[in-house]
Amino acid sequence: MNISVNNKKNTFHLYNDEISYIISVLPTRHLGQLYYGRRIREREDYSWLLELRDRPMSSWTVKEGQKYSLEHIRQEYGVFGSTDYRSPAAEVVSSNGSRISDFCFADYRILAGKPELPGLPATYTEDDSEAMTLIVTLRDDLNGLELELYYTIFDQCGAIARSARFVNNGTEDLHLTTAMSLSLDLPDSDYDWIQFSGAWARERYPKVRRLEQGIQSVGSMRGNSSHNHNPFFILKRPTADEFQGEAIGFSLVYSGNFLAQAEVDTYDTTRVLMGIHPSCFDWKLAPGESFQTPEAVISYTDQGLNGLSRNFHRLYQKRLARGYWRDRERPILINNWEATYFDFNEEEILNIAQKAKECGVELFVLDDGWFGARNTERAGLGDWYVNQDKLPAGISGLAEKIENMGMKFGLWFEPEMVNEDSDLFRAHPDWIIRTPGRETSYGRHQLVLDFSRKEVVDHIYEMMAKILSEAKISYVKWDMNRSITECFSAGLPADRQGEAYHRYILGVYDLYERLTSQFPEVLFESCASGGGRFDPGLLYYAPQGWTSDDTDAVERLKIQYGTSYCYPISSMGSHVSVSPNHQLNRNTPLHTRANVAYFGTFGYELDLNKLTDEEQEAVKEQIRFMKEHRRLIQFGTFYRLQSPFEGNIASWMVVSEDKKEAIVGWYRVLNGVNMPYTRTKLMGLSPDTEYRVEGMDTTHFGDELMNYGLITSDHASGSASPDEEIGQDFDSRLYLLKAVN
Ligand code: DGJ
Repeated sequence: MNISVNNKKNTFHLYNDEISYIISVLPTRHLGQLYYGRRIREREDYSWLLELRDRPMSSWTVKEGQKYSLEHIRQEYGVFGSTDYRSPAAEVVSSNGSRISDFCFADYRILAGKPELPGLPATYTEDDSEAMTLIVTLRDDLNGLELELYYTIFDQCGAIARSARFVNNGTEDLHLTTAMSLSLDLPDSDYDWIQFSGAWARERYPKVRRLEQGIQSVGSMRGNSSHNHNPFFILKRPTADEFQGEAIGFSLVYSGNFLAQAEVDTYDTTRVLMGIHPSCFDWKLAPGESFQTPEAVISYTDQGLNGLSRNFHRLYQKRLARGYWRDRERPILINNWEATYFDFNEEEILNIAQKAKECGVELFVLDDGWFGARNTERAGLGDWYVNQDKLPAGISGLAEKIENMGMKFGLWFEPEMVNEDSDLFRAHPDWIIRTPGRETSYGRHQLVLDFSRKEVVDHIYEMMAKILSEAKISYVKWDMNRSITECFSAGLPADRQGEAYHRYILGVYDLYERLTSQFPEVLFESCASGGGRFDPGLLYYAPQGWTSDDTDAVERLKIQYGTSYCYPISSMGSHVSVSPNHQLNRNTPLHTRANVAYFGTFGYELDLNKLTDEEQEAVKEQIRFMKEHRRLIQFGTFYRLQSPFEGNIASWMVVSEDKKEAIVGWYRVLNGVNMPYTRTKLMGLSPDTEYRVEGMDTTHFGDELMNYGLITSDHASGSASPDEEIGQDFDSRLYLLKAVN
């Protein structure tokens, strides 16, 4: 890994074994984008990478410099208003109302490692030798606004982390109305765009379309990154697939309003923008003030979509997630939500916990309903003290009893919300987000606390810290069940209202930071009605997130498969729930529910007392299995093999670092009869290693399993052998591979 600088040519080449990223100061003093892709050789002059021609009917920025029309030049952070008509990376309003800016090269510096982004989540290094950072300073001489572009290259993968920082070194107030984290101009548009979209209970389905002239984008204006669109997308070459070919992934380390966009101009070049959504964004920069954008991470691969995912998994698991739990096997938990909803008392909770303990569960999580007057969705949020009618021994008493059983105890909070029927709202009706004079909208009968105000965050912190200090709490589920409407903060003056959405998220990050540093061994799991805020921003604070409220195994195949394009297995909360399922009323076999949930953090979301003796024995075996294999599953290398979006059979696998062990998850949605033979081509094995597949008589070499495939045919492909059970709909199997010697 290196950043080489050619001062004569004003060129910067960031490279490691896999990628090159080359930028150069243009003759116009703007910063040009020359190349991002597979590593190319180091040489003195790269200027040939940028074609400059005089194009008819264009305007140019340099007198007699017909070639210098900015709309035809690939740039690093283009702005609108001069000769570039594409969407801008930044827009700045000066005190005279002008919206024109012009950022020209001023300076650069190179740092070992990677600086932190104050108050914001970001990838990090543990040792300066892991990464290098280039900071290029551009300046708008008219108003004194300085723009620092940050580029970090890591030694290990094809990723570049980017962000921008604005510093008002001038004398007038400025307003930033667009401030993207990343702008990347690509020389062509021969890409498929893949976004990860959905809704509550069906999050992050990949949607593919051909990139076309014009703008394609996804985003969120809900105040949270949302169930609807994830702040992640991929541009892949049309010929690329899961297993081979070029792709670039774009991921925003942020949890609030975002925009992810690709604009193809009529010359078929592509400008990608990613950052805080410019709608409703207006950040005032008084002289001396600065603004730091969130971080965007881009990753290039020529190893197909699985290769791209491996890059993100490694980086996000090891250098975005942090803390005590980052590298630890995650506890197998039981959560009472689908077992009881709001209707429980201490005895019932202890009953559920006792059976869970007998089965081998390690952590009991008490979900919503334990506090204030919370017996329905209509009351109690904001009153973070125990409801003694339900839990007479308090949270400390209950936690103690659970600990005495030999399990850890976890607790649910929804810190950002309040019900009108709560002591908190009665004491501070002015603490919510609402626009004066307008009706306030409701979501799940609750209102959003104004986390852009420090006193609000302080108060919630005090309440939560008190409980976490008094009781033996090992895990926190941090939920968030509605989006922001009528955004306005009573804590901000009129000319700073455009800061409210972002300041809200900064408040959320601040509370996370305070709690995770004060209680470093507590495992935090993020949640937002399931996967409404499943994003890299929260992964920095909470190493796992509740992937979706949909606990049906067949639906979860798609949700977890889609989520895996960016996020590692160790980040996906996944539980076995009751059958028929509460969201779909679908009956699925217990083994399939577990076979899906294993590929995540694993737990149960039901009352195990209600299972038959035989099922309870099966649960004990599942837990034993997961304890034995969770290190491999949660921290091995994950590969998607067959997509549930494309056919009746889905499969995926994990491989240990030394390639001596692997587990394949194979799932068939509908059963069949007299069907074709089936096999699954495996990935990531060592070609020359001989593997034994548990339950099979023959051994197979890695090259055979990866090229011919593992035979998965059964009774559905011809008559069943005498000792073979006939399967059913929603069936599944795990294949355990071990190297022979
Ligand atoms: C939504 C979450 O996703 C559920 O798991 C549960 O915690 C409920 N909220 C509780 O209100």
